[in-house]
Amino acid sequence: MAKLSVNIGSLALKNPVLTASGTFGYGEEFAPFIDLNRLGGYIIKGTTLEHREGNPYPRMVETPSGMLNAVGLQNKGVDYFINNIYPRIKGYDSELIVNVSGAKVEDYVETARRLASLDKVNAIEVNISCPNVKEGGMAFGTTTAGAAEVTRAIREVYPKTLIVKLSPNVTSIADIAKAVEAEGADSVSLINTLMGMSIDVERRRPHLSTITGGLSGPAVRPVAVRMVWQVAKAVKIPVIGLGGIMDGRDAIEFMLAGATAVEIGTANFIDPAVTMKVIDYMEDYCARHGINDINEIIGEI
Ligand SMILES: Cc1cc2nc3c(=O)[nH]c(=O)nc-3n(C[C@H](O)[C@H](O)[C@H](O)COP(=O)(O)O)c2cc1C
Repeated sequence: MAKLSVNIGSLALKNPVLTASGTFGYGEEFAPFIDLNRLGGYIIKGTTLEHREGNPYPRMVETPSGMLNAVGLQNKGVDYFINNIYPRIKGYDSELIVNVSGAKVEDYVETARRLASLDKVNAIEVNISCPNVKEGGMAFGTTTAGAAEVTRAIREVYPKTLIVKLSPNVTSIADIAKAVEAEGADSVSLINTLMGMSIDVERRRPHLSTITGGLSGPAVRPVAVRMVWQVAKAVKIPVIGLGGIMDGRDAIEFMLAGATAVEIGTANFIDPAVTMKVIDYMEDYCARHGINDINEIIGEI
């Protein structure tokens, strides 16, 4: 059987399949459907320094080949995670990665610092799509200076594997990737959701309480593949690809474009066992194509 293991920073993943933050809860919700120990890793819900209620309902709506969401990072804060959730989910034989968000650089730094002490968390994924409240609400991830600043500050306190998750709502995602690489990020993951909007014409109201929201699902996949290809050519650190991966074929597409690992998001809502099917497909694909090591196909395009 082909070797499926890949490396992201200091993480040795048993295979390239991870779950996307916000679509997989804390992993434990999926235990009735899949063997979590088979995953390369599981990336859990966005975690912030303080408790957050999230946005008012409605905050999800189905759209053509995708969905819009405006959940708004609902979570009980990093200390609740450390004391109550981490002890329940740390036992799986799979890399546990925590997704970190914040409205100020100091929030990110303090959350990362607290997570650094957890034995079973060897990596964080930093979501830089959040509005920077100090800089007037512009997301950290939409300027090279903002992305660099937050990466630099976290790097100072976080010695383990640091993955920075990039926003696609920018002119040049490759420039943002280069900026975070220069500040010491070990990897970049992309894409987060694309900003979108939809209107209920009978009620003459937006579907979401927040009017606009983040688009995910197969509708975004060609944009995501293009961005992964561009970023993989621009940086030396490993790239994690995501955005509309629905099956194993889609996952291989991202790897050919330059992704070392992939994350599965919205597809988990349709089929909670999709991650297992993607791993099975990778094994079968390698056998069919005479590939001994899946690393051989990364960035072939
Ligand atoms: C309901 C929902 C909640 C999400 N929450 C987060 C989050 O907390 N942090 C984050 O970085 N991305 C979050 N995302 C974005 C996903 O992790 C992913 O980047 C995006 O959905 C694209 O992948 P997909 O098309 O496979 O879903 C969320 C997406 C959805 C649909």
